[in-house]
Amino acid sequence: MSHEPTHWADVPHAPPAGTCLAHRDDVADGQVVMRAWPPDGDAASQFAYLMLRSGDTIRVYVNRCAHFGVPLANKQVHLMYQPHTRITCNVHYAHYDWHDGHCLDGECAGTGLLPVPVSVDADGQVWVAADT
Ligand code: FES
Repeated sequence: MSHEPTHWADVPHAPPAGTCLAHRDDVADGQVVMRAWPPDGDAASQFAYLMLRSGDTIRVYVNRCAHFGVPLANKQVHLMYQPHTRITCNVHYAHYDWHDGHCLDGECAGTGLLPVPVSVDADGQVWVAADT
């Protein structure tokens, strides 16, 4: 039986609310960056996430395709996305909505990327927020 996480906080090594993940300027407008927390850990003990920027708005998703539970890409250079529109898994090309992570098309029907709640403070620091 599968025990796939359905909530970001159930993913191994998920950072607690109040963790500073990054700075808004770590990602340019219309771009997506692959990051991991903590930044200095080894991959087996890190939480891999995607950080997206639209203007001053930052969105964060777990870097985990709903199809096979693998990263959407293994290297930043291989990450596929259409700015402000969608992100695509480079394994079997499932398409996810930029704005909320839901499956648009492909091997993810009825599922989606797991959004991580974040807030950005006046200095541009991106913090993990409490679930609402
Ligand atoms: S693993 Fe992402 S679409 Fe299959």
